[in-house]
Amino acid sequence: MYITDTVKYAGVNDREIDLFEGQYTVPNGMAYNSYIVTDDKTAVIDSVGYSFGNEWLENIKNILGDKSPDYLIIQHMEPDHSSNIALFTDAYPTATVVATDKAFAIMKKFFGTDFTDRRMIVKDGDSLSLGGRTLSFYTAPMVHWPEVMMTYDSLDKTLFSADAFGKFGALDSDENWACEARRYYFGIVGKYGQQVQAILKKLGGLDISAICPLHGPVLKEELEYYLDLYNTWSSYGVESEGVVICYTSVYGNTKKAVELLRDELVSLGCPKVAVNDLARCDMAEAVEDAFRYGKLVLATTTYNGGIFPFMREFIEELTERGYKNRKIGIIENGSWAPMAAKIIKKAFENSKDIFFTEATVTVNSAVNDNNKAEISLLAKELCD
Ligand code: FEO
Repeated sequence: MYITDTVKYAGVNDREIDLFEGQYTVPNGMAYNSYIVTDDKTAVIDSVGYSFGNEWLENIKNILGDKSPDYLIIQHMEPDHSSNIALFTDAYPTATVVATDKAFAIMKKFFGTDFTDRRMIVKDGDSLSLGGRTLSFYTAPMVHWPEVMMTYDSLDKTLFSADAFGKFGALDSDENWACEARRYYFGIVGKYGQQVQAILKKLGGLDISAICPLHGPVLKEELEYYLDLYNTWSSYGVESEGVVICYTSVYGNTKKAVELLRDELVSLGCPKVAVNDLARCDMAEAVEDAFRYGKLVLATTTYNGGIFPFMREFIEELTERGYKNRKIGIIENGSWAPMAAKIIKKAFENSKDIFFTEATVTVNSAVNDNNKAEISLLAKELCD
C-alpha cells in the first residue's frame, strides 16, 4: 500500500481469525497494521499479531533490504500489535525500543524483560528526530489501554493513531468504512469516550494529511468526515435520526408487537427503523445501532423474575459503555407478572440523560387491541 515516499506499509492481513479479541465476529478478517518511516534514521511503528511475525519481518526486509531499523516504536501493547516485539529485537539487535513507561511495564509482563539496555522511554509531548523529520508523541490513555500513545510525523503530516480510526476487516476486503469502524469503535473503545475526546482536543492543532491506524485502511482524503464521526461517537452524540428496536421473543408474541411498532413508525415517516432480534443478531451490531440512533425501544419478556438473558446482556453492553443522552421506549411481555419495564428502568438508573417515553406497552401473553393502542401512542411519541 502506498502511503508516502517515506512512509511504508509493513502490516499483514489475518484471514484465519474467527473472533477478534475473543468475541467480535470478523467475517472479512482483520488487518494488523505496521508502518516504516524512512529518513536518515529508520523507525518501525508497531508490530503485528502473534501468528504473523515472520511475514512481518519479511515485509520489513522487503522495504529496508539489509538495513537495520534504528527504532521500534510501540504505541500499544495489546497482543494484536505487540506479540512480535521480542522476535524483532532478536532480528535487529541494534534497534532501540521506543515506548511509554507504562508500555515497558507491560512488556516486562509479556516478555520477561523491559529492554532496559536498549530502550527509550517517551512521555506526552516528547519528540524523536529521524534526521529530516521529527516524530512527536501524544499519549492517549485508555484509547484503548493505559499505555497507548500516538505518533505524528511533522514532515509527511501523518498521524499514526494506534487503535483509533481503526475498523474490522482485512485490507483486501471491500466494505463500507463507517459500518465496520462504528462496530469496532463501540465494541472496543466505546467505554472511553471521554478519553477519545481528550486526544481529539490534543491533536486539534495538528496539520494532518493522513491517518494511519493499527487496523483498517490508511485514511487520506476527506479527513474531516472521519474526525467528525469520531467526535460524534466519543461525545455520545446522535449520528443518525431514527429508531432502533431491539427485542427478544420466546413464542413470537413480543415479536408481533415489535412488528406492529415498526410498521407504525414507518407509516408515520420515521426516517429509519432498525430492528434487531437479540437472540439471533450479532450483539455488536445491535450495540452500534443503539449508539448510532437517538431513540431505542427495548422489547422483552419477564423471565425467572428478571428479563430475558439476551436483553439483560444487551443492556449491560450499553451501560458499561456509558450509554447516555437517549430516549428509550419499552415493550414488556409476561403471562402472569410482567416486570420487564420496571427492571429495565432500574438497569439504567445510573446512566446519564436517559429519558423513558411516557407510553409503555404491556403485553399479557398475546397482543390485544389495548396493546395496539399503546403501540400507536408509543410510535407517535417516538416520532415527535
Ligand atoms: Fe488493536 Fe487495542 O488493540
